[in-house]
Order: sequence, then structure tokens, then C-alpha cells
Amino acid sequence: MNTKTGNLTQCGIVEFPKVSDDRGSLTFLEAGHHIPFEIKRVYYSYDIPDVDSVRGAHGHKKLEQVIIAMSGSFSVTLSDGFCEKTFHLNRAWRGLYVAPGMWRLVENFSSGAVCMVLASALYNPDDYIRDYDAFCQYVRA
Ligand code: TYD
Repeated sequence: MNTKTGNLTQCGIVEFPKVSDDRGSLTFLEAGHHIPFEIKRVYYSYDIPDVDSVRGAHGHKKLEQVIIAMSGSFSVTLSDGFCEKTFHLNRAWRGLYVAPGMWRLVENFSSGAVCMVLASALYNPDDYIRDYDAFCQYVRA
């Protein structure tokens, strides 16, 4: 195992506060309380054309993320180069924490799905590994 990266057991579903009343529901995320890193960037995918669309399909070296289905649903398959696990996201009050050194595949988008990602760093193409074999070599080095 590459000690620079994490492993799959560190990844998992985190639940956020949800306040519901007859006007609907509200979820809040506070720095230092609900997200296990300082949020440096937020991005989101939407207008996904169909259920066959695939996003992600890359690894990150150092980036930590929390992925949230703000609307609709999709699945996220994570691999640490040794094991993989699939998580189904379909609630805005739940997120998937993704440790450093994970390959991710985001797919099975429902109609109208919005995939929001909270990230621990600004966009950096050098943190990406876009070839799965190269990713496995990196994490196994
Ligand atoms: P891409 O990595 O293909 O998205 P996904 O992880 O959902 O498959 O990114 C699509 C494009 O957007 C690509 O040209 C890089 C750019 N991009 C940014 O400029 N900033 C960002 O924060 C992100 C996530 C992507």
C-alpha cells in the first residue's frame, strides 16, 4: 500500500443535520464540524444526458472529497487499487467521503440528478490519474 494515499476502509457515507418542518427540509454543513477537511472548492455536475452517462473514471492522488446527490440519484464506485465498493447516493442529507488515492466512477444517474462535490483543494490537473493501470501502479508503488 502506498502510504501517501488512503484506503477504501476510510471512505464511507456521512450523514448531515436535517431540519424538517411543514415548509420542507434544510441541511447545513459547517466547516470543521460536518466535513473532515477544509473546503477549498465546490463543483457540481447536472444536465446529465442519460442513464448510460459516466463521469469521474479517474483517480486522485491527494484530493479528498465529499460527494452529495443534491437531487436525484447516482452510484459511485470507489477503488483503492486493491478493492472496490459501490455506494448509492440519493439523499441531500447524506454524502460520501472519498479519501485520497481513490479511483471513482460515477454512473446510473437518474433524470434530473445533481452531483455536488466538496473538495479539499483547488482544481489541479496534476492530481489526476486518468488511466486505471497507471492509477494501480501509483497506489501500489
Ligand atoms: P472532468 O474531470 O472530466 O469531470 P468529471 O470528474 O465529472 O468526469 O472535468 C470536466 C472538465 O471540467 C475538464 O475540462 C476539467 C474541468 N474542470 C475544471 O476546470 N475545474 C474543476 O474544478 C473540475 C472538477 C473540472
